[in-house]
Amino acid sequence: MTYEEFEKKVTSYGQDHLIKLYERLDEKGKTKLLNQVSCVDFDGAKKLYDLTKEKKEFKDFKIEPVSATDAETMPEELKNECIEIGTEAIKSGKLAVVMMAGGQGTRLGHTGPKGTYDFGLESHKTIFEVFVDKFKEAEKKYGVAVPWYIMTSKDNNMETIEFFYEHNYFDYEEGIKTFFSQNELPMLDEEGKLIIQEDGLIKEAANGHGGVFEALVSNGILEQFKEKGIEWVFICGVDNILAKVVDPLVIGYSIKNKLLATSVSCIKANPEEKVGVLCIKDGKPSVVEYTELTDELRYAKKENGELLLSEGHLLMNLFNVSVIADIAKEELPYHVAHKKSDIIDEHGNVIKPDSPNAYKFETFIFDAFDRLPELGVLRYKREECFAPIKNAEGVDSPETARKLYKAYYNL
Ligand code: UTP
Repeated sequence: MTYEEFEKKVTSYGQDHLIKLYERLDEKGKTKLLNQVSCVDFDGAKKLYDLTKEKKEFKDFKIEPVSATDAETMPEELKNECIEIGTEAIKSGKLAVVMMAGGQGTRLGHTGPKGTYDFGLESHKTIFEVFVDKFKEAEKKYGVAVPWYIMTSKDNNMETIEFFYEHNYFDYEEGIKTFFSQNELPMLDEEGKLIIQEDGLIKEAANGHGGVFEALVSNGILEQFKEKGIEWVFICGVDNILAKVVDPLVIGYSIKNKLLATSVSCIKANPEEKVGVLCIKDGKPSVVEYTELTDELRYAKKENGELLLSEGHLLMNLFNVSVIADIAKEELPYHVAHKKSDIIDEHGNVIKPDSPNAYKFETFIFDAFDRLPELGVLRYKREECFAPIKNAEGVDSPETARKLYKAYYNL
């Protein structure tokens, strides 16, 4: 892109603050900014900004509770049969795990990728290493190194790769297949202007965990799955250290019930817990995120006194490979997050805000659920499957997760 094209583009979209910033850059920086501007979808950015003005109304939808199978109370014979079916699938190499580790982890405040965080065990194992242990245990049990694919963001990709390299892949090199990056979207200020970061470039952020489908397709991972005969893909976040990454029951349950996707859940600890809830929205499987749940629905109870929407979505979902390409065909809807972000003003000064001043746009994996013919829900006891590390302290912190982890492994 030439300077003239750059000037025309940014002016016509009301982004002329970029011109002053351009002038402040050295030659290398100028070239980088021109390249970036030629790639940024300005129409798309405008549409994203328009979203920040929309008010979401959930009462327009019919929200009903979802039915779930409780792993605890499932008839023993059926459970054993499912485990047997799932074990067979794992042993014959039909499972892959995709771990979503592209988040920014702003609430935790750890400077590196979240998986590299030491959450305070005596052994000082990091989150990634805790997962390596699970894969190695599965390898012993099933005789297969279950392939592990790690989704990063453009921001933390190199650091993640280097971390594994420096640790010699924790001796699980056979299983750690690929690191692949998800896409990014520009961040906008409250006037819809593209935010500039300290190096003078446009600030972009990972496009949310819903970006996983598109990233699996565009990075050729889905093709790899097909070539390798992988039929089931377990997709989870990096920050739940009790995630059951290699679980024969969820696979067998899906196969036995002819389901193409199953979500693993546990009952919400209390109505205020910050997890999304699985539900049926206008007749289709869905999740209402905690930030988007109305108080009326948050506290609604069934006749028996239980919470109406109690099935917590834990970001642990099993998909049949056959549905991933279809899901990825069409963009998922964007959600707006109002965040604090340092901004470089047109004079090159760094502005550090005290309150949210920037918009980030994300897609959520569960917005794909209504594209599925059916979604199974398999519920576990929370102490068996859920110990998230989200915040630096308090709920869902390293301290709470560590306690749950130690209790689960009898440490
Ligand atoms: P969260 O929504 O909790 O976000 O991600 P986060 O980025 O880790 O933390 P905060 O909100 O900035 O404090 C849940 C899971 O989804 C992954 C995260 O890495 C985490 O495992 N994720 C999230 C992605 O892989 N990409 C994204 O764009 C967002």
